[in-house]
Formats: sequence, structure tokens, C-alpha cells
Amino acid sequence: MPSKKQIDAKSEAGNTQWQNNATRKTTSINGVGLWHSWTRNFKSPILAILDLLDNAFDAGFSKSDPTFKSKIHISEDKWYDDTLSYDQERVTGIIIANNSAEPICDILSILEVYKSTKSDSESIGENGVGLKQGCATISDLSFVLIRSKKQMSIGLIAKDLQHEEGAFLPSYPLNQGNVREELKRIFMVEDPEVGKSAAAYGFGDLNVAIDRLNTHIEDMCNSSIWNDEKHVFRLIMDKIIYSNVKDLSQDNMNEFDLYKRPVVGLMREIKAALPSQYIHIPKHFDVKIGLEKVYFNYWQCRLVDLSVFHVKIDPDNSIIVSDDWKDPMLGYNVRIFLGFDPIRFVDSEDPNSTETKALSLNLYSRQSGRLIRHDPDGRSALGLFAGGSTFCQGLTVIVDDFAGQLPLNPTKQDLAFSNHANGQVHEKNLYLWLNAIVGGYYKYVVDQHFKGRKGDLSKGVKKRAKSTETLFRQRCDPKFKIKSLAEAHYTSYTNAELPFRRWADKVICCQHMMTNARIEGDDSRSLVKVEQKQTRNIVVRVGNKRIERAQQEAVETEIVDKQEIITPTEDKQEIITPTEDKQDIITPTEISTSNGSIRSSRKKQPTVHFTYTDLEPITSSIPALPSRRNKKNGKNWQMLAEKFEKNAKRLKTKVEKMTQEAESLKAKAKKLQAQYTESQEDYLEMVTYKNEEITNLWKLMDK
Ligand SMILES: Nc1ncnc2c1ncn2[C@@H]1O[C@H](COP(=O)(O)OP(=O)(O)O)[C@@H](O)[C@H]1O
Ligand SMILES: [Mg+2]
Repeated sequence: MPSKKQIDAKSEAGNTQWQNNATRKTTSINGVGLWHSWTRNFKSPILAILDLLDNAFDAGFSKSDPTFKSKIHISEDKWYDDTLSYDQERVTGIIIANNSAEPICDILSILEVYKSTKSDSESIGENGVGLKQGCATISDLSFVLIRSKKQMSIGLIAKDLQHEEGAFLPSYPLNQGNVREELKRIFMVEDPEVGKSAAAYGFGDLNVAIDRLNTHIEDMCNSSIWNDEKHVFRLIMDKIIYSNVKDLSQDNMNEFDLYKRPVVGLMREIKAALPSQYIHIPKHFDVKIGLEKVYFNYWQCRLVDLSVFHVKIDPDNSIIVSDDWKDPMLGYNVRIFLGFDPIRFVDSEDPNSTETKALSLNLYSRQSGRLIRHDPDGRSALGLFAGGSTFCQGLTVIVDDFAGQLPLNPTKQDLAFSNHANGQVHEKNLYLWLNAIVGGYYKYVVDQHFKGRKGDLSKGVKKRAKSTETLFRQRCDPKFKIKSLAEAHYTSYTNAELPFRRWADKVICCQHMMTNARIEGDDSRSLVKVEQKQTRNIVVRVGNKRIERAQQEAVETEIVDKQEIITPTEDKQEIITPTEDKQDIITPTEISTSNGSIRSSRKKQPTVHFTYTDLEPITSSIPALPSRRNKKNGKNWQMLAEKFEKNAKRLKTKVEKMTQEAESLKAKAKKLQAQYTESQEDYLEMVTYKNEEITNLWKLMDK
């Protein structure tokens, strides 16, 4: 309810002669149209907020001081109305407050339309319009407050200051001596039309608006959080435009709840979205929503068998034809992280959930690692087989363009290859690599850990859900520590060279090269279980022929949770380490021996079948000396290997012979073709000659 003081002020404001300041700086662009276009550029309000936060993150990255402690606080803007005897606190909007490592540009150039002060590829801003269109999407009235190099200034991004004759984003330097008086002079004398807009912040009462702005400025200058900061930026967005408020109760709503509801709804959405929207926000950045700190450790707490590939993308030359396709001279580096998301996998089984098990593609770019594109089913985008359950085990792909070389659209909602020279080649190169890496990784995991069975991979992923959920719950505990994506040591496949080759206009992955290139990561939580020794009776067959029966010690793949936790030196007991329910991890025996036999994944001849019986774990840790029987088995294996080797040699000679034959047949065919062409020409000549003769004969007969 507006107070009496407010109502009086409203009428006072109404009596004031609002006039245009003739000297004000406007653009020749139609301001009404420009505002309208700003409000339609973002697909959703959260994307507008993210664009505003990009500026705050950019300001936190310092070139000279990598340890600069960036502060970004998103909070409710409250009005403490002391004229009311009840419930004095009113939520009216959202504040984004941050410090800056470098001096902040002067407000005049910041509010200049289409002028960016950033020129490097690392920062996320580049079009010089994010701040204005972000504010216009969220609110009809925003204030920009800056304290930098001891100078205070204020700017307005207001809908009702835009006219067809021009766009108007006024800004003013402030003398810190008496801010209240200064604001009065600006809003009442110097530029009353701006004052009229500003009065909306005081619910029609300009004095209330000035008081509220003065409180913000005091906080920026004198509060314990901000007073030590050299450069401080604050955005106040009043009366938020946000209609996606779902489950807030309608009961007991008063006039002010109308403003509070969108604020609470939007803040909730920001809180849920933010951790997965950025992947490279350093741990020392102090990012808060309300009073809660935001932890940017989303994927490393969620994905199992987290692996990384390092590739260089050529933006200009097609990798299908270029000689240096694996290491292009003018290419740029990207990291591709892959892993399986057990939480998503299990959630997708809930009929009410919108989650899917399909391969999800997440494309991040720039220094802050901002999410640019999220494809819940990226199989067709990556040109991968999209049928059945292939790639449907919660596989998650993270493309990390940390060098900031991918072209983004102005609102950072997708890639914009078409705006760039050679954009098509650039795009194709990126997707060829993604196709090879994602397809190769998936097949490698299925074949190596699950003997080629997708169903077993699904079971494996599902089994990891409980422990992953526990880890994911812990990630926001201040005592919980985990390495960042960039610092961690995940399993990689780039030992000497990338395990890929080119084949028929594609890049394909070679499994044996993958095995050679594999570097086990210390920080990858694996999909299958701990080192296990088991004694097995094995029946070996080649083709259909049973040739051997032997007892063998089989050592399963070593699969332990190697998640490295950084433990601070002081109070070790205080640190939370990611707990793991060991029973959660799937064992290869659970998967593969269910039908009593494991089939080699290679389908080509000769096929070897192993039949396991008698599975007993060995309890002694000292390895037993080889028995006579085992020695004999060893000999048999050796003989078998020699036999295979001989066979391979024979086949090789055969192939060489056949290749020679093919070559000579090719040459013969070429010769015959030439002879044929020659004779054909002769015959055609003869036919022409004969036709002429016939024509002449007819002519003679006619005569
Ligand atoms: N939160 C902020 N902290 C510090 N400086 C900011 C902030 N927001 C905007 N700026 C400054 O305002 C300029 C304009 O921002 P914007 O319109 O988003 O364009 P861009 O990000 O493309 O440069 C930025 O280049 C930056 O200098
Ligand atoms: Mg920007």
C-alpha cells in the first residue's frame, strides 16, 4: 500500500514541469524500435541474466593477477519503508553487484549502443549490446552504478526514455560529497524527464527513489563487502518481468508480492541453472545467490569414466584433404570431455521426468567456460547412429572451447558459423572430430569394459547412480573439495598421437590405437570394478573345434575410484571426501558371466570362446608359483599363438598375390578399353562413309 508520504510526493511529482534536456545525447536510431528488438532477442529471461553475468565474470578475470578474488553477488533488491508499521521489507527487484580487476570503463561508453570495450577472444562479450538488451529483457527500469578510480557514476536503462526520434540511455558522474543533493539536482533540475523515469523506483516518489539509490551508493562505498574494492559495479533491475513462476502460493498476495513473485521465481531458476552454465569459474571466485555460495563443480561430481581428448580444430582448411590435419598449423585447441551421467540415466526412467538417456551435447566457450549450446539428444547433430539404445546410456559430451575461437551469435545462444569466412569448413571440421571422438569413445567403452554389450553398459551406469548422487549432494558443502575440470587428470587417449585415421571423407577411431594411446586418469571415477583375481576353468575353442581346457588366473581390469580429493593440511577430519558405496560398482563378472560364457567381440574368424566354470576368488596375496599344469598350458597357448601367426602370414601372402592379380587385371582392362575405343572410332567412321555412299546412290537413282 503506498504511504501518505508517497501519495503526496506523487502529486508533487505530477506538478513538476518535466522537460527535455536539449543537450542530452541520443542516437539517431528509433529508440522505441530498438527497445522492442532488445526485449525479443533472448529465448528466455535466464539467458538475459546470463549475458549480464558474463560481464561480471569477464570483469573478474584479471590478466595481471590470476588470484584476483572476484565477487559476484546476486540478490533481491529490498525497500525498507519506514513509514509502514507492519512488515517493512519489500522485495522490488534484483541486484547484480560485482567488483572488477581492472578499472571500469566510463559510463558514457558503457551505455553507448553497439560499442564493446572488449577486444580479446577470451572475454564473453564482444558486441557491446549485452548489458542494454539484458536489462531491457528483465526490466523496464534499470540503474547502472559504478565506482571506479574513486569516481562514482549512475546510468539509466529505461523504457519510457526511448522515443522514435532516438534511443536515450542517460548517464551522469556523481560527486561523492553529497550524493543525495547531486541526484536531486540531476533528476529535478538538469534532466526532469529522467527524474520522472527514476521516480518509478520510489513508486512514484522521486525522493524515495533518491533515498534508495543513495543507500546503494553508500553500500558500494562503505559496506564491509565492497569498501576495500577498487572498482565496483552494480546493476539494479526494478520490477522484474518474469512470468514463469510456477509453484509459489497465490494465497495472501498483496500489492508488493506482485513484485516479489517474479524475483523469487527468477532467482530460483538462476540458482538451479548457474552451476552447469559455466565450467571454468575458479574456486576463489565468490559467487553468491542471496546468501548461498555457488559451486562450479557440476560435471566432475556427476560423470563417471570421465575422459578427455585434446584436439586442434582447423578453422580454414578441410581436414579431409589437408596434410597437417591432426596438428594444423593455424588450428586452435579444444578439449572434449566425455563421461556417463548415472543421475540423468536413472531420472529418465521416471515417467514424469523430461530427462532422456540419449547422448547429450554441451558446448562451452570462452575463458569462463560459458554454455553456448545444449542438445539433449546430440546424436544426429554429431552424425551418429540414432537408432535403438546406441548412445543411450547417459553419455555426456562437453566441448570446451577454452581458447574462445568458436563463432557465437550475439546473444550467445548458439554457434554462428555462417557469419564467418570459411564457416562451413570450420563447422564441418569440428563435427568430423566430434563424430570420431564420441563414436570411438563409446565403442571403446562398450567393447573394453562390457564385451560389446550395450545392455551391460546400461546396467553399469545405473549401478553407479547411488554413489554419484551421494557425491553430487556433497558438492555444495564448503568442506568438500574436488579438482576443477581443467586441472583434473582424467583418462585420456592422446599418448603419442591421436588414435584416429582418415577414411572415405571421415575421421575414424582405431581401437588398437586407442588402447595404445590410453593414459589412465587419476581423477576418473570408473564404470566397472576393482582389481579382482579369479581362478577359472577355461574351455577354449577355435571355430567349433574344442582344442584346450585349462585353468587360468584372470586379472580383471583395475577399476577403483581414483577421484582425487585435495585435502587441506590443517584439519583433516573436517574434509569431506566423496564417499562411495562399493557395492554400487558393477563387476565384469556380474555383467558377463550371466549366461556362463563370454564371447570375444571380434566377429571375424577364427572365433575364440571362453567358457567359465568354478569362479573362486584367490585369498592369498602372494602369487602362486606356476604349476606344471600351468606351464603346460603356457606351452599350449604359445603353440596356438604360433599357429595364428603362421595363418596370418599365409593370409598376408595371399592378399599380396591377389592384389598383384587385381593390378594386372586392371591394366588388361585398360588396354582392352583403349582397343575398344579405337575400333569404335573406326567403325563409326565406316558407318558415316557408308551412309554418304547410300545417299549418293539414292541421288543417282533419282536422277
Ligand atoms: N558487471 C560489469 N562489471 C564491469 N564492467 C561491466 C559490467 N557490465 C558491463 N560492463 C562494461 O560495460 C561494457 C558493455 O557491456 P555489454 O553491453 O555487455 O557489451 P560487451 O560485453 O559486448 O562489451 C563492457 O565492455 C564492460 O566494460
Ligand atoms: Mg556483455
